[in-house]
Amino acid sequence: MNKTLSIVGSQWGDEGKGKITDIVCKDADYVVRYQGGNNAGHTIEFDQKKYSLHILPSGVFNPSTKIVIANGMVVNPKKLVEEINMLQSHGVSISLYISNRAAMIMPYHEELDEYYENLKLDFKVGTTRKGIGPAYMDKINRSGIRMAEFCDKDIFAKKLSHNLEISNNLLDDTKLTKYSFDQVHPEYEKYAEVLSQYMCDTSLLLDQAVKNGEKIVFEGAQGVMLDIEHGTYPFVTSSSPSSSSIPVNTGIGSHYINNSLGIVKAYTSRVGEGPFPTQIEGDIADLIRETGREYGTTTKRPRRIGWIDLVQLKYAARVSGFTQISIMLLDVLSVAKEIKVCIGYQLDGKEIYTIPPLERDYQNVKPIYKTFTGWNTDITNVLDYNSLPKEALEYLEFIEAELGLPINIVSVGPDRLQTIIRNDIFQ
Ligand code: GDP
Ligand code: IMO
Ligand code: MG
Repeated sequence: MNKTLSIVGSQWGDEGKGKITDIVCKDADYVVRYQGGNNAGHTIEFDQKKYSLHILPSGVFNPSTKIVIANGMVVNPKKLVEEINMLQSHGVSISLYISNRAAMIMPYHEELDEYYENLKLDFKVGTTRKGIGPAYMDKINRSGIRMAEFCDKDIFAKKLSHNLEISNNLLDDTKLTKYSFDQVHPEYEKYAEVLSQYMCDTSLLLDQAVKNGEKIVFEGAQGVMLDIEHGTYPFVTSSSPSSSSIPVNTGIGSHYINNSLGIVKAYTSRVGEGPFPTQIEGDIADLIRETGREYGTTTKRPRRIGWIDLVQLKYAARVSGFTQISIMLLDVLSVAKEIKVCIGYQLDGKEIYTIPPLERDYQNVKPIYKTFTGWNTDITNVLDYNSLPKEALEYLEFIEAELGLPINIVSVGPDRLQTIIRNDIFQ
C-alpha cells in the first residue's frame, strides 16, 4: 500500500485542493506544503464553518496530523504568525514544523512584485502581489534569507540591511514604499522569535516518517498550468506545483513519490493573465461563476470561466504524473443545459493534441468540442456514485476513459460531507 500521496491542482489553480486535502488528512500522519506561499488560497468547509488558508496545509484541522512547511516554500512570517493566531483563536491545535531551509518573504518583496509587474507592459502576469516572484528571484540569486538565517539575530540583521539597500535602490524613482531597516527589523525579529520554536530539518523528519511507514500527504498549491517549468510561461507562478517537484522541494527520495491525485474542476477557471483556450463569456459563464462562487480566495478577483479541456488535462497528467483524479464542483454544472468538453485544438488549419510551447500559438488555438447533454438537476445531496444522473455519469465516464485515470473522488458541494469517495486513494 502507498503511504504517500500528493494532491496536485491539474489546471490553473483553485480546483478544490484544500477541500480534498482536509478530507484525506483525516487519517494522515503528516501533511506537507512544498511550494508557493501565500499566493495560495485554500478553502475548507465543515460544521457550517468556512476557513481560507494561505500558508498552512489544509490538513491542519485533524489534530493528530503533523503539519510541515517544507524547504520549497516561500514564507511570509507576518502572515504565517497571523494564520497561526487565527486558527488558535478558533481552538485549532497545531503541531507545526517549518524547514530551516525555507525562503522568507520580506515586505520589500511585495513592493518589488508591483515594480516588476509595472515594467512588464504587454507581459504583465497579473500576480497576486504577494511578493512570490521576487522572493524566489532572491533565492535563485543566492541573496534570499532562509528560515535558519531569519532566526539568527546577527545574520538576519546583516542580510536585511543589505537587501533593503538593494531593493530601495531599485525602487528609488517609483512611488512604491521604500522601507527603512528600523521600520522592518524590530517587527520581524518578533516574528522570528515566535516562529523559531517550530523550525527544524524537515527533510530529516519526513525521511524518518516515510521509512517508519507513516502516511504523508503533500498538498500542492496553484496548478500544473501555472508551473514555472511546464505551465503557460510566462503567465505562470515562480515555483513547480507538479508532483515531480516534491523530492527537491522537501528533501526526500524521488522513489517515495508514486501516488498522485490530480484535482480536476469539472469545468475550468483561471485568475490573472494568460492564454485560456476554452474560456467562455456571457450568460453561461456568469451563471457558472456565481453558482461556483468563482472569486479569488486570495485577491477576490472574479475568475475567468471555461469548459473542461482534455488536451490540457492530458498534458498536466503527463508532466506531473497523476495516477488518479478527483472531479470537483460537479454540482455547479447542473446550471448548464449543455456541457462542452475540449478534445483537441485547431492551430493554423491543423489539428493538434498537445500544448504548443509558444505563448502566441497557445493564444491562437481554437478548441474542438464534443457536446454533452446537461442533467439540470440538483446533485448536491447525492452521496452514491451510481445515484448520479445518467447524463452526469456519461460525462464522468468520458473524462475517465480519455484520461485513462480512475476518478476516485467526485465532489458535489463545498462541504466535507458533499463528497463521493469511490476507492481508497492510498491504494
Ligand atoms: P484550492 O485553491 O484548489 O484549494 O481551491 P479554492 O478554495 O481556491 O477554490 C475552490 C472553491 O470551490 C472554494 O470556494 C471551495 O469551497 C469550493 N468547492 C470545493 N469543492 C466544491 C464542490 O464540489 N462544489 C462546490 N459548489 N464548491 C466547491
Ligand atoms: P491556489 O493554491 C489561482 C496565479 C496569479 C497569476 C500567477 C502568478 O489557491 O490554487 P504569483 O502571485 O504566484 O506570482 O502569480 O499565478 N496564481 C493563482 N491562481 N490559484 C492560486 O493558488 C494561485 N496562485 C497564483 O493569479 O496569474
Ligand atoms: Mg485557491
